[in-house]
Amino acid sequence: MNAALLGYGTVGRSLDELLSERPIGISVTRILRRPGKTAGDLRMTDDIHAILADPTIVVVVEALSGEMPAARWIEAALAAGKHVVTANKAAIAPRMMRLTALAREKGAAFRFEAAVGGVIPWIENLRRAAGFDRIDRFCGILNGTGNYILDRMAAGLDFAEALADAQAKGYAEADPSADVGGLDLANKALVTAAAAFGLAPEPGGSAALSVPTIGLDGIDSAYLKAAAAAGKTVRFMAFGRRSEGKGAPRLALGAAPVLVPLESLEAAVRRNYNFALFWGDVAGPLAFFGQGAGGRPTADAIIADLRAIAESGASAAPRVTEASLDDALLFGHARYADGTVRSGTFADLAREAKALRGRHGFAAFEPAPELFER
Ligand SMILES: NC(=O)c1ccc[n+]([C@@H]2O[C@H](COP(=O)([O-])OP(=O)(O)OC[C@H]3O[C@@H](n4cnc5c(N)ncnc54)[C@H](OP(=O)(O)O)[C@@H]3O)[C@@H](O)[C@H]2O)c1
Repeated sequence: MNAALLGYGTVGRSLDELLSERPIGISVTRILRRPGKTAGDLRMTDDIHAILADPTIVVVVEALSGEMPAARWIEAALAAGKHVVTANKAAIAPRMMRLTALAREKGAAFRFEAAVGGVIPWIENLRRAAGFDRIDRFCGILNGTGNYILDRMAAGLDFAEALADAQAKGYAEADPSADVGGLDLANKALVTAAAAFGLAPEPGGSAALSVPTIGLDGIDSAYLKAAAAAGKTVRFMAFGRRSEGKGAPRLALGAAPVLVPLESLEAAVRRNYNFALFWGDVAGPLAFFGQGAGGRPTADAIIADLRAIAESGASAAPRVTEASLDDALLFGHARYADGTVRSGTFADLAREAKALRGRHGFAAFEPAPELFER
């Protein structure tokens, strides 16, 4: 099976290396790079149209950074009848309904395992469970950078030192704002909701409009110490819930530092690992743990998607329909560094946190116990 690869950064390069180290009958025959960066490898081109018009290319692997032009090219590849595998949550999160519908219309595969949770087979298992169970909640430590920062802070570093350490180790980008501000988690919440619930908050489904978020920035080690004394710690998480029963579907998503008991599974997740959990009405809770990022682990997830296509073709993309946002589905308390506690829906607490954090210090969300009980 011939594949074209869009982007030759950490993930793209790792994918190319892995497929040549361990041949499995999938060849990268074209690689899209920026103009001026195509020398030295005959597979490289800066012309997306040459790739889309090439009938020998069956699947397009999108491993670009940023939302555009990646999203446009994913859409163009699906419209041209190519299968698409992507690692790029920023490109797909705001348009899950459109992309899945287009893939179904064209009979093309649209797979995005690598976009959430790195090598963890999270999307695959959500889809497998959602085929029979009704999944109505999920939560996950799905930002390795954030978890690494919290882990280092629990060992005594302050936020700036822990962030600098994460950057030195290559876990955090030079501009860490999408990671620590929560946008990365918010995008992952949107992609997870599409796979788990078959729902997207569209129109206006961007993370900024539909996923209330409290960032990790502002935390200090004194807060973590005080939380530990109270039997708690903080994990930076994405979460979501849909309405139960009949009637038009409703949905609430969020991303925030979450207070968890020290004896919880989440608290045991160290360094830059990921951990995610969903609840099926028959299966009960199912949890997944592993490397959420890194070139080779992420490329491994892409290869799982490619193998699924090579073995069984275009198993249908999930059917994703529109749901209205219902803030009342997620509620609990926001706890601030100075001891202030506010209660309400998560959406209200997140809005309030933006205004109050300057006055009361770092805020962490404590979900109502019934939301994420085991
Ligand atoms: N790294 C991870 O651990 C990880 C994990 C899961 C998912 N992902 C996702 O995978 C994707 C790739 O991540 P990465 O870590 O490999 O990023 P990266 O190292 O920054 O690589 C991105 C690549 O995309 C290229 N690119 C961007 N815009 C382009 C354009 N208009 N035309 C041609 N090339 C363009 C960049 O080219 P230049 O170098 O020329 O700018 C670079 O080669 C991202 O969407 C990321 O969110 C990454």
